Amino acid sequence: MKPALLLGLSASAAALNVNRRGAIAGASASLAQVALPNPAVAATEAKLALPKMGIGAWAWGDSLFWGYDPKEDAELEKVFSFVAARRDGFVDTAELYGIGRSESLVGQFEKRHGKVTVASKFAALPWRTSRDDVVKACEASLKRLGRDSMELYQIHFPNAWANEAYWDGLGDCYEKGLVKAVGVSNYGSDAVKAVSKTLSARGIPLLSNQIQYSLAYPFANSNGLKQTCDDLGVKILAYSPLGLGLLSGKYSLANPPKGPRKKLAESFFSQPASAELLAAIAAVQKKHDASPTQVAINWCRAKGAVPIPGCRTLSQVTQNYASLGWSCDASDMAALDAAAAKLAPLVEKAGFPEKDINTGLKMFDS
Ligand SMILES: NC(=O)c1ccc[n+]([C@@H]2O[C@H](COP(=O)([O-])OP(=O)(O)OC[C@H]3O[C@@H](n4cnc5c(N)ncnc54)[C@H](OP(=O)(O)O)[C@@H]3O)[C@@H](O)[C@H]2O)c1
Repeated sequence: MKPALLLGLSASAAALNVNRRGAIAGASASLAQVALPNPAVAATEAKLALPKMGIGAWAWGDSLFWGYDPKEDAELEKVFSFVAARRDGFVDTAELYGIGRSESLVGQFEKRHGKVTVASKFAALPWRTSRDDVVKACEASLKRLGRDSMELYQIHFPNAWANEAYWDGLGDCYEKGLVKAVGVSNYGSDAVKAVSKTLSARGIPLLSNQIQYSLAYPFANSNGLKQTCDDLGVKILAYSPLGLGLLSGKYSLANPPKGPRKKLAESFFSQPASAELLAAIAAVQKKHDASPTQVAINWCRAKGAVPIPGCRTLSQVTQNYASLGWSCDASDMAALDAAAAKLAPLVEKAGFPEKDINTGLKMFDS
């Protein structure tokens, strides 16, 4: 049994984890997979131009996975202030993160440091079954954020039922002006196609699918999901782009992170292929006089995704945003892709329902 990887959810709302079985084979190479401009992307981005990268605020309030302590708030405010000082500031949060605390912190910080692009998420919990549940949850998120509207609202993960009701609710949020754009998260190819079709019948573009996508988890390249998103003009928001910190260069088998990431780190670093990947990252890092996190972020960017690395300190956010000052070239990407393709499965099966039991629709690509 491989260790589980939490997906940005508080453990109280169930520890969801992901399976990447069988997804390695085609983890393919090079800039060939960079999304080319297409009319669908242009139409979607006319509604909301997503910045090239953002930051993730899962750890802001989450004590169970990230060991959050309110004493961190002053440092988190510095992180936010750095992001807000940029024209393209973008923060990803969710109602589940710290059970609302992450959204409340973003709201408090915005009042003091100015507005950013905010993306939040609806938790598709089993007892939520109606379109109104989405609207009510969105309104509650806005209240915590201290806003009348937010830029992007996403369905956090598939449910085993009621998914179509959620899409109706997402559309209602959009039409009521509560959100400027809508997206989904942890959706597989078939589900992305279905939600995109439903929304487009109402004239609403599906802006994004937020998925785990990194050098340590590149499987959307080989399971068809990235291609589906590119074809539909749905932007990929790359979550855990630093492999939950394991690609940062500061952890090893001898020095794993504390808490729930320890098991994941042991599994990752005990694979010989992880040493090869870290060596490939180090070579690119050296060539561009960069940091390992910048390499991991720029791999995502070169694939056409918008990375949202979790940042908890001013020095992390400063270093991560410096990624925008350079780009991976084709030879960097070929070397990184080749090394990433050798990694064995790292994490175990997801808690996400693979199918909607009412419609039979495949919701999640494992
Ligand atoms: N939709 C979903 O289901 C889902 C699931 C997961 C995440 N997400 C979103 O994606 C965001 C990012 O993912 P993530 O937080 O899971 O993982 P990540 O971005 O891969 O890793 C974040 C961690 O890496 C370390 N780090 C960041 N910058 C660093 C730097 N410059 N140098 C060294 N270490 C650095 C920090 O942890 P340490 O300092 O403690 O090592 C940080 O908390 C989340 O915050 C959330 O918004 C969404």
